[in-house]
Amino acid sequence: MNYENILIHLEDGILTLTLNRPDKLNALNMALIREVGHAVAEAQSNDLVRGILITGSGPKAFAAGADIAEFVHFTPAEARDMSAAGHAVFNTIEQSEKPVMAAVNGFALGGGCELAMSCHIRICSEQAKFGQPEINLGVIPGYGGTQRLLRHVGYSKGLELLLTADLLGAQEAFRLGLVSQVTSSEELLPVCRGILQKIKSKSPLVVAQIIACANAWFHKTEDGFELEMEEFGRCFVTSDFREGTAAFLEKRKAVFTGS
Ligand code: COA
Repeated sequence: MNYENILIHLEDGILTLTLNRPDKLNALNMALIREVGHAVAEAQSNDLVRGILITGSGPKAFAAGADIAEFVHFTPAEARDMSAAGHAVFNTIEQSEKPVMAAVNGFALGGGCELAMSCHIRICSEQAKFGQPEINLGVIPGYGGTQRLLRHVGYSKGLELLLTADLLGAQEAFRLGLVSQVTSSEELLPVCRGILQKIKSKSPLVVAQIIACANAWFHKTEDGFELEMEEFGRCFVTSDFREGTAAFLEKRKAVFTGS
């Protein structure tokens, strides 16, 4: 696929996807969302990719939401299709077997906040601002915001944000657990890449299993405790389990192969 709205860069096992419409604060038009979905799906079968980092180009925004100019004239059916297409892509991100991080470098509003929330780990710069201001446009969030925001920050705070359209600054987002770290703008990408490199040194099988168990908890669609028992058992046939335990007993660093 030819990417026109995102930039792709693979280095040291980390695939960086940069949302690249800086003049429009990286507003998520449907082509951009399709490109993100395609890149994340393709990364699953690319053995060179061990982690994915999503960020926005320009100094102001991660993404300032779905592209209002694009959807303003949609029919109800087109709007539903747009929502479904976004959900599919964001589910692909959330269910990625490889860790996906959002490096939030500015506004993460509407679909931008929803995109960040579909990633496994979020880190933001001091300049970041999060929110779901759709209510100001007379519309509800369409890419999972009514669900994921509540699961991240709790029912009361989530509804307060959805109903008032108030924005959260970086420190408040950290206090609420929406992001796991706040950095300076300069440190944002290096810190994110450092975390992904650390995860890269672990067994990719175990990384995928932990993400699956965490998703079971997040969505409550299956019993996460049951899944954990199953996955725990599955570990005991892998080379990575033999290597990890042997390395501990032999007092050396484990080298995992993903088998
Ligand atoms: N969809 C389409 N275009 C958008 C956009 C969006 N969600 N967000 C920003 N843009 C465009 C603006 O229209 C403007 O384009 P122009 O220069 O061609 O007029 C450009 O990006 C810069 O935005 P601007 O509003 O001038 O920047 P600002 O610094 O004054 O304000 C925001 C920044 C984020 C507060 C403001 O852009 C905004 O409120 N955006 C919409 C947020 C939103 O409602 N998101 C949910 C969408 S469902």
